[in-house]
Formats: sequence, structure tokens, C-alpha cells
Amino acid sequence: MMRTPLRGVGLGLRSDMAEAFLERRPSEVDFVEIHPENYMRRGGRFPALLEAARRDYPVGTHGLTMCFGSPTRFDDEYLRDLRAFLHDLDVGFHSDHLCFGGAHGVFLHDLIPLPFTEEAARLCVSRIREAQDALDRPVAVENVSYYLPQSESGLDEAHFLVEVLRESGALLLLDVNNVYVNSRNFGFDPRAYVDLLPADRIAQIHIAGHVVRDDGLRIDTHGEPICDDVYDLLDYTLGRVGARPILLERDNNIPSLDAMLDEVRLLRAILSRHTAEDAA
Ligand SMILES: [Fe+2]
Repeated sequence: MMRTPLRGVGLGLRSDMAEAFLERRPSEVDFVEIHPENYMRRGGRFPALLEAARRDYPVGTHGLTMCFGSPTRFDDEYLRDLRAFLHDLDVGFHSDHLCFGGAHGVFLHDLIPLPFTEEAARLCVSRIREAQDALDRPVAVENVSYYLPQSESGLDEAHFLVEVLRESGALLLLDVNNVYVNSRNFGFDPRAYVDLLPADRIAQIHIAGHVVRDDGLRIDTHGEPICDDVYDLLDYTLGRVGARPILLERDNNIPSLDAMLDEVRLLRAILSRHTAEDAA
């Protein structure tokens, strides 16, 4: 089923760094990830950047608009265009977020948390099935960070995620930074969360940096280096589920390409240790 498989460590191709990246074409980076919204239905510089990236790197796609907890059906024309775009790139799967994004044509341009209830899980399952049917390829859902406490009566985050995966058949794009941020903000054990997940559904891993505010709240900014605890959680996760493609997300406060490649090399060292362990 996998078309263009993703392997190794990738970097999110963002417009702020794309030109510097493509000029150098670093061999440490195994694949790039793009947001289709930045390239679909556009002319000029953006499609040209994508074509240039494709010459040397497999491309993965990570959407921003198909939040799977939204109550209204996705726009048919958008799904048709996205399907053609994914087909052209030959991606093995397409990912988007397990959150609320809007309803009835109003799009909030933010990843709004869902209540972790049975009702919300059923809603997500129907949206995921709709996307799987329309896109004609596997869909991966990503766990998001959130800052609103959940009601005591619902499920916890990990059980909610597991239920959605089981009922929808979706793959999981596991963001280990989001797991860590939520675990510290809401007081749960991030390793116990990882232990609950179905390893065979994990298609890819996201990793990023976050900030700690003065009041202790951690905010998922994608604007800092990865912290040691998140490297540790990555290491733990790969030890449990096996090697998986890892994507470094850096969207804000973008440092030099060399600084990002330093992080890529650290991630490669962790991943290659687990790849060797899996082979042994
Ligand atoms: Fe992510």
C-alpha cells in the first residue's frame, strides 16, 4: 500500500528556509514534509520550490485544514484537489490533526482541542473515513497539544486516541513533543501514554521544541530546540514501537540551517541505534 515510503529523519520544508535548504541540499536530511495548503492552487515560487525539493527528497504531506474533529463534512472540491495533489506526489499516506478546526464553512485557523468523549470519538471516526474514501490512500491522525482541562467524565487523551484509531483504521502520526507538553501541563505519565498505543499503526513521528512560561505552563511553539526530556521520550518510544521516520518541525524563530542540521544529526543517531536494534 505504501507508495513513496518515508525513511530516516526529515525536515519540515518551510518557506523561510526552503531556499537556503535547497541551495545546500544536505545529505543528512532523508525526506521533507510540506503542508499541501501552501502549494495547492498556487502558482509561482511555491510550486517551483516543491519541484526543486522533489528532485532530491521524498516528500511527505501534513495538512492543516482537515481537522478530524470538525462536525461538518469536508468540502468536496477541496478533497478532489487534495487527492490529485497527493496522487501526483505519490505519498504513502496523508496526515492531519485530531482536533476541531471549524464548522459550516467557518475555519478557525487554529487547532482547537476536542472533548475526549465517545461522541467526539464517533465524530472523528466519520470524518477520517470520509477522508480515507475521498483521498484513496491511508490517513494518519496527529495528536495535538491543548491547554484546556478536560471534564472528569470523559476518557483520558490516550484512551480517546486509541479508540479513534481502532474504530477508524487510521494510522497515527505520533507527535512526541505534544505528548510530553500535555503530560507536563496535565500531570500524566508520557511513557504510560506511549505504552497504550498500537505500535503497528504508528506511521511517523513528529518532534519539535516548546517553551516553558514563567508560570510553568509549556507551550508547543515549534520555535525552540528540542529539550532533553523530549529526546528521552523519543528514545523510549522507538524502543517500544521500533524505528519510525522522524520529522523535525521548526516553524517559528527559525535558526540557521546548520543549527537545524545539528538537531537532525542527533535524531539520526538515536534512530540508527533503534534501526540496528530492530535488525538484531
Ligand atoms: Fe506535529
